[in-house]
Amino acid sequence: MIGDKKILYSGMQATGNLTLGNYLGALNNWIKLSEEYECFYGVMDLHSLTVRQNPAEFRKRARMLYTLYIAAGLDPKKNCIYFQSHVSAHAEMAWLLNCFTYMGELSRMTQFKDKSAKHADNINAGLFTYPVLMAADILLYQADVVPVGIDQLQHLEITRDIAERFNNIYGDVFTIPEGYVGKTGAKIMSLQDPTKKMSKSDENINASIYLLDDPDTIIRKFKRAVTDSGSEICYREDKPGICNLIDIYSATSGKNRDEITREFDGKGYGEFKLAVGESVVDILKPLQARMKELQADKAYIDSIIKENAEKASYTSMKTLRKVQKKLGLTERIR
Ligand code: TRP
Repeated sequence: MIGDKKILYSGMQATGNLTLGNYLGALNNWIKLSEEYECFYGVMDLHSLTVRQNPAEFRKRARMLYTLYIAAGLDPKKNCIYFQSHVSAHAEMAWLLNCFTYMGELSRMTQFKDKSAKHADNINAGLFTYPVLMAADILLYQADVVPVGIDQLQHLEITRDIAERFNNIYGDVFTIPEGYVGKTGAKIMSLQDPTKKMSKSDENINASIYLLDDPDTIIRKFKRAVTDSGSEICYREDKPGICNLIDIYSATSGKNRDEITREFDGKGYGEFKLAVGESVVDILKPLQARMKELQADKAYIDSIIKENAEKASYTSMKTLRKVQKKLGLTERIR
């Protein structure tokens, strides 16, 4: 707790361009949650290094993600928004927690298995201990809740296990965090294969709407979206393409599924796709305008980056020092 508020921690990696799926599934939720919780949101750039990055591109993309958080509506005065790599406590805590994590439990992580299959030429130790760094992120801030996608729940589970293991030996040091998975309907699927999640790393650019796509591109991508056989606009399991478009329309227009199917009763796919596209354009317009403004104001973003890194360092250092002391590391002489 900070004051009378519970603590929330979350973050995204700066790999790939953020998609409508990231926005409707995560970012938009964060903004709502930021009223209720004391929030820490990181740009998880250390995690991104488990895969080889082009330095110049990586730096640009990380700053862009940071700016997008703010453009999307997260207030950097009320929330702590920072780069993971600016707070050295993350790396230090990850080392300490490494010593409380078993090889066996890390080998069972499905993301490690998937990623090592995908990057067979670079199965580095960082990829293996990735969940320990994530545990450090969360535990440093004594987070009560952690909004994550379903694919990250296993990492949250190992975070809880590590925290409990530590607490069992050293007393109540860490808050045990709870996962928070957003409501269904916010899970946005690929426009080209609606059985797959819309992903920022998809190689087919038509599969995803990127937050900075211009209106024409957005409309074109929706026109090309894969739909199902038949011609009816209804929410049925055998129509994953239409379901996805209904979900997107619902999330961007605020109308529910019934209202939408009634609105498009007797109308064709073409008309529906255009309406969904326009609704997405409408919701992204203010975000894109704000993004432009923010990107033009380098001094402002710089000052926010600095201020928030200091805030994150201060909070995380308190936990780090406590842990070091519990472990019997020699205290610093002042
Ligand atoms: N692993 C997360 C992802 O790929 C990103 C992440 C890193 C994270 N540290 C975190 C998410 C801590 C929540 C809390 O999506």
